[in-house]
Amino acid sequence: MTFYKRKLNETEQLNPQEFDNNNMELVCVKDFERQAFAKLEKNTLDYYKSGAGEQFTLEQNRAAFRRLRLRPRILRNVSQLDISCRILDEQLKWPMGIAPSAMQKMAHPDGEIGNARAAGKAGAIYILSTLSNTSLEDVAAAAPNTCKWFQLYIYKERHLTEQLVRRVERAGFKALVLTVDAPVFGNRRADVRNKFSLPDHLNLANFEGELANVTTMGGSGIYEYVTNQFDPSITWQDISWLKQLTSLPIVLKGVLTAEDAVLAREFGVDGIIVSNHGARQLDSVPASIEALPEVAKAVGNDMLVMFDGGIMEGNDIFKAIALGAKVVFLGRPALYALAHNGQQGVEEMLEILRKDFETTMALMGCPSFEDITPAMVVHEKTFMKL
Ligand SMILES: Cc1cc2nc3c(=O)[nH]c(=O)nc-3n(C[C@H](O)[C@H](O)[C@H](O)COP(=O)(O)O)c2cc1C
Repeated sequence: MTFYKRKLNETEQLNPQEFDNNNMELVCVKDFERQAFAKLEKNTLDYYKSGAGEQFTLEQNRAAFRRLRLRPRILRNVSQLDISCRILDEQLKWPMGIAPSAMQKMAHPDGEIGNARAAGKAGAIYILSTLSNTSLEDVAAAAPNTCKWFQLYIYKERHLTEQLVRRVERAGFKALVLTVDAPVFGNRRADVRNKFSLPDHLNLANFEGELANVTTMGGSGIYEYVTNQFDPSITWQDISWLKQLTSLPIVLKGVLTAEDAVLAREFGVDGIIVSNHGARQLDSVPASIEALPEVAKAVGNDMLVMFDGGIMEGNDIFKAIALGAKVVFLGRPALYALAHNGQQGVEEMLEILRKDFETTMALMGCPSFEDITPAMVVHEKTFMKL
């Protein structure tokens, strides 16, 4: 366990009763977030923490979990818990993964390799972003025992995407995760104000030349990169194109409605991730956890439904599973733990979260996932029937 001595930041000074221990032991995901907030420089922290627009959905991604009440069952022998699972033919120690996030070396030199190795040690999935600071081949070589998936964007120059797919296959990644909620880039105001660009010593390591650079032309450099390079004309026909290109399982990331989940099933994808991209794309969409039930009801019996957005505690993982997710992913928490202490920070954070999830399973009276029922999670509005 890590003990830390540091100055209180601005938020903490405003709420001293919450943060009265300067030698804070890190015991929950939120603690890692506080450390990262105190440590990261503005360009990076703003890029990591921001949502789109007014950041209404960003706030809701976490707030919506708190509107859900748990109804635990008692006296059900929870001395032996089984939280392992099999996802797309891979055995996991628990239903956990690290979501793809761009440019992880801005958090810490361990970057993508640190996160991938920590995921492997924790028995979780690691999804590498197309926009990584470490090449997919280097991540594959450094974390051979991690279950790795690759997140794909479709470039206007289709041959770039094709080349990526071939490299991903050769490097032994087990699935392609196509991000479908970013035909254009969300409007993140802090990045525009900061004129976000990648620090000079880093690049987008899957590419060469101008495709490897994120520099500002006057606004947010990442917005400009995506606008220039990614194809906003993609449609469901491109799922068919991708399917004939590769035999890897295809997962769509960024599904928020029953209608699109049904289409995803019709187009034969292998799984979907209910996600609003960490509230970074379209503001005012529902919190991910609010969108999960309609998607799971529509396709959950015959398709792999996964989830990300706002997960901070074991309780959140339980709620997402009860509402239909088979696996959940962490975005920012992994970046913040990485910023705190590299690979070791992520290992510690995942260990804390797994134990917290086990505690929830036991206190809910659920020794296995079969014991979880939808009736165990109730919205606060319908909880008290008077
Ligand atoms: C800094 C940052 C960068 C991200 N980059 C990508 C990306 O390159 N591709 C992608 O599909 N999603 C990306 N995401 C979205 C995450 O995969 C994930 O959907 C989201 O972070 C989950 O919400 P959470 O941060 O509340 O856990 C990014 C998220 C963050 C915070």
